[in-house]
Amino acid sequence: MAALGHDMGIKLTGNQNRPTGAGYDSQKSNHPARRSVNNTLALIENIKALEVLDSRGNPTVEVDILLSDGAIGSALIPSGASTGANEALELRDGDDRYLGRGVLKAIANVHDKIAPEILGREASNQEEIDNVMTQMDGTDLLKNLGANAVLGVSLAVARAAAQSAGQPLYQYLDQGKPLTLPVPMLNIINGGRHAHNSTDFQEFMVIPAGFDTFRRALQAGVEIYHALKDIIDGKGLSTNVGDEGGFAPTLEANRDAVELALEAIESAGYKPGVEVFLGMDVAASEFSPDKGSYVLKRPAMSLTSGGLLDVYDTWLNEYPMISIEDGLGEDDWESWAVMTERFGSRVQLVADDVYTTNPKLIEKGIQDKSSNAVLVKLNQIGTVTKTLEAIRMTQDAGWGVVISHRSGETEDSSIADLAVGTSAGQIKAGAPARGERTAKYNRLLRLEDELGDNALYAGLSVFEKYQK
Ligand code: PGA
Ligand code: ZN
Repeated sequence: MAALGHDMGIKLTGNQNRPTGAGYDSQKSNHPARRSVNNTLALIENIKALEVLDSRGNPTVEVDILLSDGAIGSALIPSGASTGANEALELRDGDDRYLGRGVLKAIANVHDKIAPEILGREASNQEEIDNVMTQMDGTDLLKNLGANAVLGVSLAVARAAAQSAGQPLYQYLDQGKPLTLPVPMLNIINGGRHAHNSTDFQEFMVIPAGFDTFRRALQAGVEIYHALKDIIDGKGLSTNVGDEGGFAPTLEANRDAVELALEAIESAGYKPGVEVFLGMDVAASEFSPDKGSYVLKRPAMSLTSGGLLDVYDTWLNEYPMISIEDGLGEDDWESWAVMTERFGSRVQLVADDVYTTNPKLIEKGIQDKSSNAVLVKLNQIGTVTKTLEAIRMTQDAGWGVVISHRSGETEDSSIADLAVGTSAGQIKAGAPARGERTAKYNRLLRLEDELGDNALYAGLSVFEKYQK
C-alpha cells in the first residue's frame, strides 16, 4: 500500500473529487465492508494532514479523511497551556520554525506511519482504528506518534463515519442516554497561565444553570459578560481579554474576581444562586512549586493544602459557587480526598490535571473518592474511544462530566457534539467571545434548534445533588 505524501493534492469537496493517487484498492480490504447510508462502501480511502494555526497563533494539526463512499471528515486539534503532567504527548518539531512549535513531525506520522495501517479499514470501526494507532505507538501517552497526530485521525474518522451514516456527529456519538444540551460554564475572567498580571486562579466562570433552555442560558451569560466589561471599564481597569476570551484586568486579589463576577450577574439583572452560579478553575498545579505547597501573589501568601481549602470554605459560605476545578495540585493526590470529604456534598469538585481524561487515573480517583466530577479533554488522552470510555466511567460513578475546550483552540466544534451525544451535562468553552469559543456555543445553538422539542437543557438537574 502506498504511503501518502504531502503533495497528494486531494480536494475534499465532494464525491467527484475523490483522490486517485493513494494507490489503495478498497476491494482488497481484509475488513468486512459495511455499507453506508448511500449503500456504498465506507472504507477509509484517503488521509491528509496539514499544519494550520490555533487561536494563539501556534501551529496545530488538521486531518482530513475521505471515505470510499465520498463522505469526508475533518478535525483540528487544540492545545493547552496549563497542561497536566500525565497528558498524552503533543508532538512539536523543536526546530527553527515557529519557535520550535511546528507540527510537521506529527503530520509526517499521519502520512507515513498511521495512514498505511488504517487505509482500507471500515470507518465505523472507531475502536479498532484507535486501537491500531495506540498499539502502533506502543506507549500510554502516545509519545511516538504524538497525541496531536493520533487524535487528528481518530476524530476525523469519527466525523467521516458520521457523515457516511447520514448522521450529525452528536447522533453518531450517542451513548444511549436521553440527549441533553449542556450547561455552559462561561469563563468571563481569565488569569493564571491564560492572562499575565491578572489573577493567580486561572478561570472565573458564570454558570447559568437556572433556565429552561440552552439559548436562554447563553443569553444570560452573554449579558453578564457585557455587564462585566462596563464594570471593569468603570473602575478604570483594562478590558483586554485573555486566551479564552474572558477579561483579564490586573486585580489586587483573587477574591476581587469573584466579587466582579457576582456584581456582573446582578448588574445584568439576574439572580445569583437561583439563575446563575459561580465556578472557578483554580488550576492550582500552576502555583504549587512543591507537593502540598501553594504560593499566591494576589495577595502574596504561602499556603498548605489545608490553608487553601480554608479559603474555599470561606468563599463557599459567601458566594453562590457550585463548581471548583483543580482546587489542589496534580501531585497532591491524598489531599484531593480530603477536599472531597470536606466539600463534596456542597459543591462540584472537578479534576482536570490529576486525571488528564485517563480512564486508569479516573478509576483510581473513583476508588479513592478523590473528586466528584471529571474534566474531559480529547487531546489529553488522544483517541475518541478512550474519551468515551472516560465519560462512561465517570457517569457510571454518578459523577459530573464537564466536556472542555483548551486555551489554544480552533474553529473545530466537535466538543459541542460530544457534550450533547454523551449527555455530559456541562461544557466549558470559554467566554462567549472570540470565534474559536463561539464556534462551540453556536454549534450548540444549532443543535438545540435542530432537536426542537427533544432539546432538553440539562440546567439545574446537574447540580441538584449539591443543593444540600
Ligand atoms: P488549558 O486550560 O487548555 O491551558 O489546559 C484549560 C483548563 O485548565 O481547563
Ligand atoms: Zn483546568
